[in-house]
Amino acid sequence: MSKILVINSSLSGGTSVSRTLAEDAVQRLLEVAPNAEIIYRDVGDAAIPHLTSSTVAGIRAVAETQAELAAQALSDELIAELKAADVVVIGAPMYNFSIPSTLRAWFDHVLRPRVTFAYKDGSVQGLLQNKRVIVIESRGGIYSEGPTKAMDFQEPYLKTLLGFIGITDISFVHAEKVGSGAESREKALMTAKSQLANMITPDFMGVLHSS
Ligand SMILES: Cc1cc2nc3c(=O)[nH]c(=O)nc-3n(C[C@H](O)[C@H](O)[C@H](O)COP(=O)(O)O)c2cc1C
Repeated sequence: MSKILVINSSLSGGTSVSRTLAEDAVQRLLEVAPNAEIIYRDVGDAAIPHLTSSTVAGIRAVAETQAELAAQALSDELIAELKAADVVVIGAPMYNFSIPSTLRAWFDHVLRPRVTFAYKDGSVQGLLQNKRVIVIESRGGIYSEGPTKAMDFQEPYLKTLLGFIGITDISFVHAEKVGSGAESREKALMTAKSQLANMITPDFMGVLHSS
């Protein structure tokens, strides 16, 4: 059965733009793959711990202590969820020109040598394959064009993190200028929803075995 992993990271609960759009994406995916299994990983509601010396030892060396073993177990769990997914939907608000630290902590547990990436013949190889990713980027301002484009440390960073572990089929959906009042926010939601509608067609689900 096809699996869709949904990672939400907004701290704004029910009013979140990225959560609203991630759910819109899920509903559209279910229209074209009604039997798909949806797995939610909410790093906004249940934060992934920041790295400590124990987590680094547990994830990047040989786990020995209780804390190291616990960190390794969490990393194993997050990576297993990601590996099993055919499609990943990531709700990624822009926080201070980048991503929420909770989402960063998720990546810190998922980018793992010899498990999700490896070095071979002097170059890095991403070890994950065959995944389509939709990233919803909600932003108070506009960063897709104009002078503030240079301040976008969200999209290039996400592209690099995902690409590093082998995920290159990424569609970015922008909801911009959501901080300029209700009308602007609504317009951003409508634009992003129509982008999702155009993107998630039966063709999109080739990777999901049409199930
Ligand atoms: C802690 C924090 C930092 C933010 N930093 C930025 C920023 O650097 N640039 C920006 O355009 N908007 C910024 N915003 C606004 C959010 O990107 C915007 O409200 C977006 O809708 C958040 O996504 P959400 O609605 O899914 O929570 C910030 C919001 C918060 C709460």
